[in-house]
Amino acid sequence: MKLTIQLSLIFFLLMLVNACVQQEEKDPVEQQVSSLLAQMTLDEKLGQMMQVNYYGKPEDWNEQLKNGQIGSFLNLSGVIDANEVQRIAMEESRLGIPLLIGRDVIHGFKTIFPIPLGMASSWSTEMAEGAMEIAAKEAKAAGINWTFAPMIDVTWDPRWGRVAETCGEDPYLTSQLGVAMIRGYQGNNPSDSLRIAACAKHYVGYGMSEAGRDYNTTYIPEALLRNVHLRPFKAAADAGCLTFMSAFNDLNGVPTSGNYFTLKTILRDEWKYDGMVVSDWASIQQQVVHGYCETDKDAAEKSVLATVDMEMASRCYDHLKQLIEEGKITEELINERVANILRIKFKMGLFENPYVDETLAERVTLTDENLDYARKVARNSMVLLKNEAQTLPLKKTQKVALIGPMTNAPHDQMGTWVFDGDEKNSITPLTAFQEVLGSNLNYALGLEYSRDKSRAGFTQALAAARKSDVVVYLVGEEAGLSGEANSRGIIDLPGLQSELLSELSKTGKPIVLVVLAGRPLGIGAEIDLSDAVLYAWHPGTMAGPALTDLIFGDYSPSAKLPITMVKGAGQIPFYYYRKNTGKPTDPERMTYIDDIPRNSKQLSLGFTSLHIDYGVTPLYPFGYGLSYTTFDYSEVSLSSSELMMKGDLTASCTITNIGSVAAEEIVQLYVRDLVGSLTRPIKELKGFTRIALQPGESKEVTFTIQPSDLEFHNGEAYVIEPGKFRLWIAKDSESGIASEFTLLNEQK
Ligand code: NOJ
Repeated sequence: MKLTIQLSLIFFLLMLVNACVQQEEKDPVEQQVSSLLAQMTLDEKLGQMMQVNYYGKPEDWNEQLKNGQIGSFLNLSGVIDANEVQRIAMEESRLGIPLLIGRDVIHGFKTIFPIPLGMASSWSTEMAEGAMEIAAKEAKAAGINWTFAPMIDVTWDPRWGRVAETCGEDPYLTSQLGVAMIRGYQGNNPSDSLRIAACAKHYVGYGMSEAGRDYNTTYIPEALLRNVHLRPFKAAADAGCLTFMSAFNDLNGVPTSGNYFTLKTILRDEWKYDGMVVSDWASIQQQVVHGYCETDKDAAEKSVLATVDMEMASRCYDHLKQLIEEGKITEELINERVANILRIKFKMGLFENPYVDETLAERVTLTDENLDYARKVARNSMVLLKNEAQTLPLKKTQKVALIGPMTNAPHDQMGTWVFDGDEKNSITPLTAFQEVLGSNLNYALGLEYSRDKSRAGFTQALAAARKSDVVVYLVGEEAGLSGEANSRGIIDLPGLQSELLSELSKTGKPIVLVVLAGRPLGIGAEIDLSDAVLYAWHPGTMAGPALTDLIFGDYSPSAKLPITMVKGAGQIPFYYYRKNTGKPTDPERMTYIDDIPRNSKQLSLGFTSLHIDYGVTPLYPFGYGLSYTTFDYSEVSLSSSELMMKGDLTASCTITNIGSVAAEEIVQLYVRDLVGSLTRPIKELKGFTRIALQPGESKEVTFTIQPSDLEFHNGEAYVIEPGKFRLWIAKDSESGIASEFTLLNEQK
């Protein structure tokens, strides 16, 4: 009996293996890949693994292209050049293999959308997808077929310049938005003539650069790596993101571009990712600088074994041939790497059509439709942080003083990572306010740029304020103060912006502070001096109209923070899913630095986890954002107080617009696992949705929770542990009333 069962099992497994092999053999892309690989010389294979920085003219690359020595260019933008290099590769090289033409199309190409951190504030997968679809079209029209985006690094550090490029601090929100962006770039069919390949970057842990200093070392224990940093990448791999980029940072002592554990063990073996991995710029070579490899040749060996398929910019992979000759690696390994590259070229349909219609740009670039969409995304990305005495919205009949260095900064409003956007297309706040207010506008720059240390413009600014009903003061950071390599140790408003604000506040006029920045700044004192505060990030081409849409009440703000706003750099890291600690602090507990008596005796009782000067609350929590209306949340009702391992439960809440304006609300679902085999975060985002409500209208929002949503890695394995959980449906990560349910192992 036992033997029969075993034999049938073996038979079944053999059938299965056979079916898989046949399936692979039948897969036309796999067939194309293996037949092309079989015709390639080793030199041609190694050529595919090289990504070269483009400059000059197509003819400059004639020889290398003809000899099949280049698999991809980066930084080539322009349809004529793109088509010409493709032509040389296709028609004049022995095997006619098309090129991947990659570029950083991060938050728009010509039509610039808000920086990713801004877009993330919309919590809208629909808008993230729509924006990237437009970016893809515009980029494709310039001959680009591959973007190095989305950036799905999770970070807790606003000092890090690249926080601007992230979707914030939360792995769930980042996963949802990252996948939406990938869909936007790639569509459902990567060979679509208006789409481009996406690249999930930077794999992995880069967002944890110590002290928020770019490129710095990272130490991330495996549980944290898997529960937070790997999650968006797993989602990207599952969503069919065609490429991944390995990062610059060393992770637990091993540079991520030569990291066998994260690349081979996790990405390839565990997740079965068969897309292409490109290194970041010279990050293979930098393993020598990190002190991990002695020579470029060692670096090449580490990276190729870790399964990095393509080398960006540096030339360590020139040593691969020698490594094969020395028997350190096999040609079989090279075949696997090259197969990954060819696979995506076939999937993208580049062999059939590597060229781009040269008239496409005029039909798809900077169209009214694109600009309207950018305006919509921008206004849905601006977070209303404060609105005392309903200062906002303003009336179009009010006399407004528009002041500040970001009022007319067409370049800076686009933010970081803009290669192709042109400031000439930017509509600035000044232009938009002029249009709305005409002669009711009193304009004064006050400061020329965010770091300006001259008081020369103060008098004029104060005069404008005095003759107006209200001051709209636009402050922030220039685009160049965030983004790659632009990390800051001090996250305050630069220059004399705060000083001008305190002068303006002395006029007694109501002040609306608008912040255009690449990071959440520590602006508690400035918020105290203002009546209303709108955090606009760098909103892109349509900053001006998006701002007037909100300021004059044509739309209500709806965005919510995708990252905690800290009181100052000393509070970092501060994120909502922190642990409880053994000595948690009541959030009501105030700072007490000034209450400590001189010569106070050493005490050992009543100590809790807080900063005696900051307390234990942030400036604004993750998920926070106001509206011009008020939303009432009913009590949460659970379909059951028990969740079975094989079942699910629903949590519902009725949201009512009890104010007088139509508005949208981002409803958030949080869960806390009360006891775990590793300590668990005090809250975790598990769902969100955006709803629109007319005044007086109610809607019921229902979330379904399955045991798999409660899974986590405990340092040894992924586990779903029975026990008690709390659940909130709330407007942000700090509000709401908890319900409780129990996860049970067995069906009762
Ligand atoms: C370095 C950056 O880290 C990466 O994000 C970018 O895509 C590449 N350079 C290419 O420009």
